[in-house]
Amino acid sequence: MAKSKSTPISTDTGRGFAGRAFQRIQGIIDDTGGQAGAPIRVLQQAQGVVGYLPPTVLKTISRDLKIPLSELHGVVTFYSFFTMLPKGRHVIQVCLGTACYVKGGQQILDLLKKDYGLEPEGITPDGKFSLEIVRCLGCCGLAPVIAIGDDIHRKVKPGQVKDILSMYH
Ligand code: FES
Repeated sequence: MAKSKSTPISTDTGRGFAGRAFQRIQGIIDDTGGQAGAPIRVLQQAQGVVGYLPPTVLKTISRDLKIPLSELHGVVTFYSFFTMLPKGRHVIQVCLGTACYVKGGQQILDLLKKDYGLEPEGITPDGKFSLEIVRCLGCCGLAPVIAIGDDIHRKVKPGQVKDILSMYH
């Protein structure tokens, strides 16, 4: 059965980043031709375009692939590589596992909130950093530990956080 082309969801399509992003997503949806496995592939590619999967994107995919929104939510929350929240250029992971918590992980978290306005799952206004809480980064003997991207910073004292973050551009 021939699949009809999807309808733009916004009159803004074609103008600005949002419009271009939606045009690309609708192109991705149209290219699936209703094949099996399409939802995950479309979600992956849409996340590649936008950087995350906001409600408007999920609603578009739900409508055009004729998949209930609740089902898409289930997929997105099941696979850890999907995110419904925007990520910064650098993702800071603060470990609050037992060893890191006892050694001061919470103080690092408090400092990120106080000095950078970063809440868990939040992002700085310039999009440079976003923050996640993790439960163990596998190097408990060097607690407290934070990760920024692929870099692991060990035995971090709150007073070092500013210098550590200044290494990232
Ligand atoms: S508890 Fe933080 S690295 Fe294991």
